[in-house]
Amino acid sequence: MRLGVVGHGNRISNMIRHAIRPVWPEARVAGIVDPDEEGARSRLDECDRDAVVFYPTLEEMVKKANLDALLIGTRCNLHTPYAIEAAKYDLPLFLEKPVATSMDQAVALEKAFENARCEVVVSFPLRVSPLCELARRHIEAGVVGDPEHVLAVNYVPYGTAYFDGHYRDFSVTQGLFIQKATHDFDYLMFLMGANIVRVAAMASWGRIFGGKKPAGLWCSKCDEWDTCLESPKNRKHNMAGGTYEDHPCVFGEDIGTPETGMNEDSSSALVEFASGAKGVYTQVFYSRRDAATRGATVSGYHGTLSFDWYTNELKLVRHHLPFTDTTRGAGGMAHFGGDEELAHMFVDVVRGKAKSRTPIWVGIQSIYACLAAKESAEKGEYVVVRQVGSAGA
Ligand SMILES: NC(=O)c1ccc[n+]([C@@H]2O[C@H](COP(=O)([O-])OP(=O)(O)OC[C@H]3O[C@@H](n4cnc5c(N)ncnc54)[C@H](O)[C@@H]3O)[C@@H](O)[C@H]2O)c1
Repeated sequence: MRLGVVGHGNRISNMIRHAIRPVWPEARVAGIVDPDEEGARSRLDECDRDAVVFYPTLEEMVKKANLDALLIGTRCNLHTPYAIEAAKYDLPLFLEKPVATSMDQAVALEKAFENARCEVVVSFPLRVSPLCELARRHIEAGVVGDPEHVLAVNYVPYGTAYFDGHYRDFSVTQGLFIQKATHDFDYLMFLMGANIVRVAAMASWGRIFGGKKPAGLWCSKCDEWDTCLESPKNRKHNMAGGTYEDHPCVFGEDIGTPETGMNEDSSSALVEFASGAKGVYTQVFYSRRDAATRGATVSGYHGTLSFDWYTNELKLVRHHLPFTDTTRGAGGMAHFGGDEELAHMFVDVVRGKAKSRTPIWVGIQSIYACLAAKESAEKGEYVVVRQVGSAGA
């Protein structure tokens, strides 16, 4: 399997090394488009180092590298332009999320794929994780009755990454509804068997992260190294998580302001599904350690089903029978087993053995919901979610 990679950064190189290669050891990175050749090369596995060729453009790579598949792993704002170009080629495509960061991008992406034969696996590990699939199977079997309500939470224990790593650049991420909730809105639509059609959202910006520290300040140059809870010294001492390396200040003015745009400390959305079901989703980025929780509680007249990827457990309460089940998952899986599932699916798609379960349409539909949440939080209004296929809506 000859892979062509656009943006051979941390995520895609890890995905190839830890998920795709174990499924298909013959997979080889044959071509790369990445302006940082040195960095991209350093992330290659030994077996790829000699044969790989760097290309200046995707077009040239596709023409010359005799590829079996493409992977796009650039940062968020470049996913759409590269995917639009990839739509012209018939190669299977592994596309990182979010698939777009603006309405213009999302609409252009939808148009580009309308008649495309390029089959896409959008990198949504949560949707395909075994725990989420099990939850969906229970719901489809009718154990809760019609799913009427969902309460979903995401208390991120590594949320400082959105303020001290490359994700702090709002011009690239466009905020955490786009960057983070795209996973959660996607699996919620899968779980509930219906698209999100309307959103009312709120967000908190600049109450915890961001601030008045000078732009460009790093911990190693800061005179608050000993007292600041975010210095590598104190994070490590307190076992608070996040990077223990020197990093840009999470209270810096270069993170942005609520007026200029910045990632949110926390954000929540009320969502309405096409089925009429309702739900709530909350994401929190300053939580640490055992506060970590990500999962959903789905209820209907007949039962309540809840699961949490961190505890790796699913609980099913039957409302009208004296039984409650708890199911425990096997541990030690990357992205809760979702990365392995994505890899299996992608390899099967490349071999023509299966269809994608995360096609481009679910990536775009999720972004339409994320964009609605962002707009709602900014304007303080309900926003109707654009639906894939409803041109001009
Ligand atoms: N699906 C998931 O669960 C998951 C997890 C982590 C990250 N991600 C996504 O992966 C993406 C990449 O994140 P990362 O941490 O690997 O970033 P990264 O910075 O490590 O990787 C990005 C790569 O793109 C390269 N690049 C920059 N400009 C380019 C251009 N014009 N053309 C081609 N390549 C270019 C960079 O040199 C770098 O190698 C993000 O969009 C993020 O949302 C997804």
